[in-house]
Parts: sequence; structure tokens; C-alpha cells
Amino acid sequence: MIPPVMMSAFGELDIRRVPFTRKEMLSAFDQADLLALDYLKTQSLLSTNSAVLVVNETFGAMTCGITQALLPLQGPLPVLWSDSHMAHLGLQQNAGANGLPTACFVQAQNTPQGPFNIVILRLPKSHALLCDQVQRMLPQLAPGAVIIMPVMVKHIDNALYQLLESLFGPLTTSLARKKARLIFAINDLAGAGDSPKPQENFWSIPSLALSLQHFSGVFGRTKLDPGAQVLLDQFPQGPYSCVIDLGCGNGVQAIAAAKKWPNARVIGYDESYMSVASATINAANNEVAEQCKFIANDCLTNVGPQTADLILCNPPFHQERVVGDQIAMRMFAQSAQVLTQNGELWVVGNRHLGYHAKLKRWFRQVEQIGAHPKFVVLKAKL
Ligand SMILES: C[S@@+](CC[C@H](N)C(=O)[O-])C[C@H]1O[C@@H](n2cnc3c(N)ncnc32)[C@H](O)[C@@H]1O
Repeated sequence: MIPPVMMSAFGELDIRRVPFTRKEMLSAFDQADLLALDYLKTQSLLSTNSAVLVVNETFGAMTCGITQALLPLQGPLPVLWSDSHMAHLGLQQNAGANGLPTACFVQAQNTPQGPFNIVILRLPKSHALLCDQVQRMLPQLAPGAVIIMPVMVKHIDNALYQLLESLFGPLTTSLARKKARLIFAINDLAGAGDSPKPQENFWSIPSLALSLQHFSGVFGRTKLDPGAQVLLDQFPQGPYSCVIDLGCGNGVQAIAAAKKWPNARVIGYDESYMSVASATINAANNEVAEQCKFIANDCLTNVGPQTADLILCNPPFHQERVVGDQIAMRMFAQSAQVLTQNGELWVVGNRHLGYHAKLKRWFRQVEQIGAHPKFVVLKAKL
């Protein structure tokens, strides 16, 4: 089990991942977070006038550390900008658990309004999201603002470093400590101004007559995911009255369901705010807005029991850089609670992930639908 105590130069905080579990095996912060906090302290960068923007951190550790540091200085609270609902929950829960006020949170499809003079930028896995965020963030920075990028050394390579140089101009780096490093840039723009609109990508599925919009953080933003295609090819026959698209991304499964069963209510859940925003736009553009609703959520948390007779799920196999099936397992466990007695969970996944055996922990009947060399579609019933 991982102890939740985060000890930085500003003091001690109890920082946990969400959802909170008694036997947490993964830490909610890393050495790069601690290095950034210690740097802010040793360089005395925080003052009454600090306007701090934190970007993309996963559970609010640094934002809480900076809040802790700014409180006695009576400086404004930092702002956390992220695409992740889990990060939002992490910030709220960790701030609350430590008796700190909750910093302002801005969803990634919106642009935080500056001017900011310090930015702590955790680099997202998606370069598209990174470029989009930087282009919208730069006009919101004060001249001379310092941009600090805490990284674990294993996550930075030449290509990423060059991309950062192309976005920020010349960079400098700190010495490495415990496999973490800081990358620095200085904003040399003349002053804060208007930010461009968030970047969007469009593609269509002619066979289903669907056209889909994607903000930069949306899964499968450049083309239809092969797993999603396999599920669309093996779509259930129905009819159904309440359908959930669990991990809805751009909403493709939800919209296909709404078109197939025009009397069904369809709800899509995703932890990515950009996904929820894109899916909402896509339902409207494909004329099923009345039937569909998209909600930011961690899996099916707080969804009522026995409410859906079909759940469609193309689960994630990583959480940012952490690969594993922990989220898929939570999706399956919660689906068993949310399905009606005769309800069905349809899952698509890579064959090697072994979802068939795993689903049997919660479902009595698990049946494979169709055959594909790489993917399986599984129908699970209670
Ligand atoms: C493999 S993609 C599937 C997207 C879309 N349904 C499709 O078929 O193309 C998995 C989706 O799960 C979402 N996701 C990841 N963690 C989640 C969580 N804890 N709760 C809800 N959705 C989550 C991701 O943001 C991503 O959009």
C-alpha cells in the first residue's frame, strides 16, 4: 500500500487518488510534482501577486501544495486547467481533506483567463492536446511569465523536447532529482490578449451517415477506433428503452444507438470534458440531441441501480500514462449494479485482455458475439 503523505518544501499534505480505496497501490503524485513545489519554494517564486496556472495534473497534488503556500501570503488561489473529471474530483477531495479552499477549475475546452505569471504545465500524453493548450494559453500569460514543466525523465524524448522548443522557443532544464526534471520556458509575448478557439477535428462514417467533431483531447480524434468499428459492426439488435454509452468519447456508440432505437433514452458518460462537449455537439449535428445526454463522470458513479437495459462499452486501457485494466474493471462492476434484471452489457476489447473471464466476476452469462482476429465483442448478463 502507498502512504498518501506528500511532503514538499511547503509542508505535509494528505494527497490521494480518486476514487479513494483502502489499499491504494498507485501514488497520487510523483517526484516531478515534488521537484516543482520545492523549486517554487527555493526560488521564492510565490508572492501576494502570484497568478498561478496549473495545467493537466491528475489529482490536484501541486494545486493543493501551491494553495497551501499562497494562503499565508494572501495571494489569489491557483487555477487548475484540465480535461479530466477525475482531476477535478481529486482537487475537490484533496483540498477538502486538508482543510484547504478549492482552487478554481477550468475544463479543457474552455480557456482560463489570465494574465498568469507562473504556469506549471504537466505534459499530457496527447501532443494534439498539448499544442492546443499551449496556443490558447500563451495569450493569457503576462510578459516574462515563467513556464515550469515538471517531467519524469522517462517520459521526455528528443521529439517531445523539440516540440516544446517549437511551441515556447528556447528552453532550459534543471538537474535531475530522483528521475524527475524541470523544463523551463519564459513567455516573451508582448502582453495578454485573446486566445484562439480550441482546435477541432472532423471525420465522418459514411456507412452510418454520421459526421463527428473532436476537440483535441478526445479519444480517436483523427479516425474511428478499430475497436469502436467492431462494436458498430456487431451492434445489438434490441429494442431497448434506456441505453448507456460508458466511456463515450465522441459519442459514436450513443449516437448510433439513438438512431437505431428512436424511442430509447441514451446517456453517455466520460471522464474527459472535451469528450462530453464533443459528444453533445455531435448528437446535435446528427439530429439526436433530444434523445441523448452526455455527462462527465467517473464510470457510473452515482448512477441509479437498475436503470439501463443496455450498456455499450469500449473501455480505456490506460489512465494518462498508467496502463492497466483498473478502470475497465470498475466499469464492469458498476454496470452490474446499473443494469436492469434482463439488461445487457456489450463490451469490445482486444482479445488478449481476457475480458471474457474477468466479466464472469460480476455476470453469470458471458457470450462472445461474432469473430474478429484482434477484438472480441462480449455480451454479459446478470
Ligand atoms: C477506448 S475509448 C472509447 C471511446 C468511444 N466510446 C469509442 O468507442 O470510440 C475509452 C473512453 O473512456 C473514457 N474514460 C477513461 N476513464 C474513464 C472513467 N474513469 N470514467 C468514464 N470514462 C472514462 C476515455 O476518456 C475514453 O473516451
